[in-house]
Amino acid sequence: MILKGKKGLIVGVANAKSIAYGIAKACHDQGAQMAFTYLNDALKKRVEPIAEEFGSKFVYELDVNNQAHLDGLASQIKKDLGEIDFVVHAVAYAPKEALEGEFVNTTKEAFDIAMGTSVYSLLSLTRAVLPVLKEGGSVLTLTYLGGPKFVPHYNVMGVAKAALESSVRYLAHDLGAKNIRVNAISAGPIKTLAASGIGDFRMILRYNEVNSPLKRNVTTEDVGNSAMYLLSDLASGVTGEVHYVDCGYNIMGMGDVATDAEGNTILAWDAK
Ligand SMILES: NC(=O)c1ccc[n+]([C@@H]2O[C@H](COP(=O)([O-])OP(=O)(O)OC[C@H]3O[C@@H](n4cnc5c(N)ncnc54)[C@H](O)[C@@H]3O)[C@@H](O)[C@H]2O)c1
Repeated sequence: MILKGKKGLIVGVANAKSIAYGIAKACHDQGAQMAFTYLNDALKKRVEPIAEEFGSKFVYELDVNNQAHLDGLASQIKKDLGEIDFVVHAVAYAPKEALEGEFVNTTKEAFDIAMGTSVYSLLSLTRAVLPVLKEGGSVLTLTYLGGPKFVPHYNVMGVAKAALESSVRYLAHDLGAKNIRVNAISAGPIKTLAASGIGDFRMILRYNEVNSPLKRNVTTEDVGNSAMYLLSDLASGVTGEVHYVDCGYNIMGMGDVATDAEGNTILAWDAK
């Protein structure tokens, strides 16, 4: 039981397909006790049974853009769990129209919403829980390859992920003085509620599957297990990292799918 005696806060469960669900499951399986948050009343009824599944009665309303929610978080956690060892930030949002068409047409409003909800929230959430986060604790966020590289349709969310990954490094420096680690997992594409806002997502899944070294897509179990490691003392010397859990897709300089001289799609090289 790698997380026996450890306590944590999981932010970002919407349903059982959420990456945060996979992380919570892996942490629960390794003995962690957790509190959960939900965005709004519509999601409350989905998150409560999930918390129960993982043996938790502690479920709080948290819209990361609501300062009153953030202000009340530490005292709520203190009352229910005392001090905690880890926090998972699995939150992102951009208006749907910003994930369609050309990036050059992104409005200031959509840009601000995406950055506020998907990037600034890592800072504000971390600050909110800092009073109850133990020395030796760990913060984890979720990012995607659309940050450092171009990915079709990712648009402003790609820019947000680039800023999020940079924020991980700056936070890791600041919190290092308190022996608190801050890391990100860059997950391969997974069909979740948030992913349903990305255009051509089925094609993206298929492209990753055929072009990744492991020739499959990642699951929330894959991400959950790696997250559990980063949240645990096994990763006590790891901070400021972006750790890819994507079946190796990010290492590919050229994919295995190509077009022949006649324009037909073919499997190339060793994928034949
Ligand atoms: N699914 C993928 O392909 C993929 C790949 C890499 C990274 N990610 C990242 O993983 C994280 C989790 O997403 P997911 O794919 O599990 O989808 P999801 O829809 O299950 O989770 C997104 C969560 O963000 C929450 N959220 C949105 N706005 C919020 C707000 N204002 N306050 C509080 N919570 C808010 C939602 O309630 C939801 O629980 C996101 O950061 C996403 O960008 C996803």
